[in-house]
Amino acid sequence: MGPHITKAVIPAAGLGTRFLPATKAIPKEMLPVVDKPAIQYVVEEAVNAGLEDILMIVGRNKNALANHFDRVTELERNLEVKEDTARLERVNYPTDLADIHFVRQGDPKGLGHAVLRARRHIGDQPFAVLLGDDLIDARDPLLATMIAEQERRNATVIALMEVDPDQIHLYGAAAVERTDNPDVVKVVGLVEKPDRADAPSNLAIIGRYVLRPEVFEILEKTEPGKGNEIQLTDALQTLAADDSIAGGVYGVIFRGRRYDTGDRLDYIKAIIQLAVDRDDLGPDLRRWVKQFASGLSDHIEGPGTGH
Ligand code: UTP
Repeated sequence: MGPHITKAVIPAAGLGTRFLPATKAIPKEMLPVVDKPAIQYVVEEAVNAGLEDILMIVGRNKNALANHFDRVTELERNLEVKEDTARLERVNYPTDLADIHFVRQGDPKGLGHAVLRARRHIGDQPFAVLLGDDLIDARDPLLATMIAEQERRNATVIALMEVDPDQIHLYGAAAVERTDNPDVVKVVGLVEKPDRADAPSNLAIIGRYVLRPEVFEILEKTEPGKGNEIQLTDALQTLAADDSIAGGVYGVIFRGRRYDTGDRLDYIKAIIQLAVDRDDLGPDLRRWVKQFASGLSDHIEGPGTGH
């Protein structure tokens, strides 16, 4: 058994170039998904898995993130005067969710570099990493399973999801071997954003990791890789190639609902998928989507229906 995990790291310092100009002055993690910024879903997920000490890795637009998890007294007073308790609760909720800390990344030199910025805060404990633009539906818990697996095996645990082979070039891909559990695989190799022909499988790395502190040592020595960025996948490949460093790498296969809010098309889909299931918006939205879709049926043609 490994030590108990209490800390989560949320990297949110990427440039969000796919979403410009919306992300010129705010991080993409602050884009609203229905009526909450994406980052709040991710913080709620960490808290639901028992992680209340959260470190956000932030970039030049730190203030929007910090303010969202801080109090806004004039807004609170205004809602109090109006006795609008429902909205007051929603405004205050993110403030008391967790113990949130911030550290700057400075130059966004890649996800691996962002995780390395957490070293001092994390110390010598295993910890979770949750990507702020990758939403896992709260009805399909993943992180708690990963944490349990990490504590049981005292290894590195990543989340994997089967994707269409045409999409694997957008992800890190894993070469795997079976274990006695059909939902857990041993990861024997990883490649960041491979061409379809070079991909070892269609198992893609998604944005949840439970890491051992040895990863920091490896990241220090990891040279810039794809996109000239320091890639977390490259450090994980080093760990997967040699079990003697930190017990190897295991993958938990996720079969639930996931939404990639860093991609414009997936972001639009995420909002619709989440909103149709909501009690307040769902009934009206479902009716409208059906009507709208029936009017579209003649137009499904042309390029770019994919990602
Ligand atoms: P992405 O590659 O999806 O983010 O990184 P990006 O670079 O902001 O996106 P585009 O391609 O320009 O639109 C995955 C996660 O890692 C964080 C991002 O904020 C995101 O949550 N990240 C990435 C950092 O914190 N620092 C970096 O240097 C790079």
